Amino acid sequence: TFIIGAACVDLKDRACVQECPVDCIYEGERKLYINPDECIDCGACEPVCPVEAIISDRELSDDFDPHLTDSATFFQTVLPGRTEPIGAPGGARQTGPIAADTDLVRSLPDRTP
Ligand code: F3S
Ligand code: F3S
Repeated sequence: TFIIGAACVDLKDRACVQECPVDCIYEGERKLYINPDECIDCGACEPVCPVEAIISDRELSDDFDPHLTDSATFFQTVLPGRTEPIGAPGGARQTGPIAADTDLVRSLPDRTP
C-alpha cells in the first residue's frame, strides 16, 4: 500500500484523490487516508502531491513511519451513530468527507498554511 504522512495535515491539497483509479483516498477532518484494504498499489497518487506526503510502504524499510499503521487505524473508527467500523466502503465519492481523524493526527500541532 501507499501511505499519506504528516505533510498532508491541515493542507489537504487533494490532487491525489483525482488520480486514484479505485477511489480509495478518503478525506478526514485534518488529513486524507489511503485505505490499505482497497489500494491496488498503482502509485499514481504519489507524484502528484505537491508536498510529497505520499510514500510506498516498501520505501519505509527501517525508517518506520507511524502513519503506516495509522491509516489502518482510521478505517477501524466507528463513527457516531454506527455500530460497524468504516472498513472498506468501496469508494471515497460515496462516503464524502468523513468527520473523524485518528488520535495520532488529532495530536499533531496545527499546520494550517
Ligand atoms: Fe494530502 Fe498531498 Fe493528497 S497534501 S490530500 S496527500 S495531494
Ligand atoms: Fe490509489 Fe495511490 Fe493506491 S492512486 S490505488 S491510493 S497507490
